Amino acid sequence: MSTVTDPGITRDEAMNLLKTHLKNEKLISHCVASEAIMRALAVRFGEDPEMWGLAGLLHDLDYEMVNEDPARHGEEGARILEEKGVSPLIADVIRKHNAEGLGLERSTVFEHALTCAETITGMIVAVTLVYPDKKIASVKPKSVTKRMKTPHFARAVSRERIMECEKTGIPLNEFVALSLEAMSGIAKELGL
Ligand SMILES: [Fe+2]
Repeated sequence: MSTVTDPGITRDEAMNLLKTHLKNEKLISHCVASEAIMRALAVRFGEDPEMWGLAGLLHDLDYEMVNEDPARHGEEGARILEEKGVSPLIADVIRKHNAEGLGLERSTVFEHALTCAETITGMIVAVTLVYPDKKIASVKPKSVTKRMKTPHFARAVSRERIMECEKTGIPLNEFVALSLEAMSGIAKELGL
């Protein structure tokens, strides 16, 4: 059942905040793509698309600020959001997307969802760029799962994190199809 919680920030405010902290356009696109997948996952689970979408949009808020320091990533972003009165549920799930670096553990569906969602964006972009037309609409779910099995392809993208979709109860094939569809819906915005 869906529980409506006040996120404590609007989508417009979140986007403005993101743009004051991130200058890299590719990183902003990555955040927008993560948002789209999180919204689709929330619908799939009967959860709150606004809460889940905002967690996706804001998860890398501190990325440039912490200069990729794994011991601070997620923590700084969560702190900024908490100070702004954003829902602690969003702040906490953002911390947990870097549970590895912060010495935490993921346990909820929301936490596993953000981790697999934000990670698969990298795989989908990499596969899209292999296609001659570089259009996300040309990508089939099977091409993504196939490339995932090739270790040297987009090697920086953690397969283990993508596979956390199974901890949310969604099999990989379905998760890939859902993610592709979600990103296709904002393809223009992503420039893909
Ligand atoms: Fe990310």
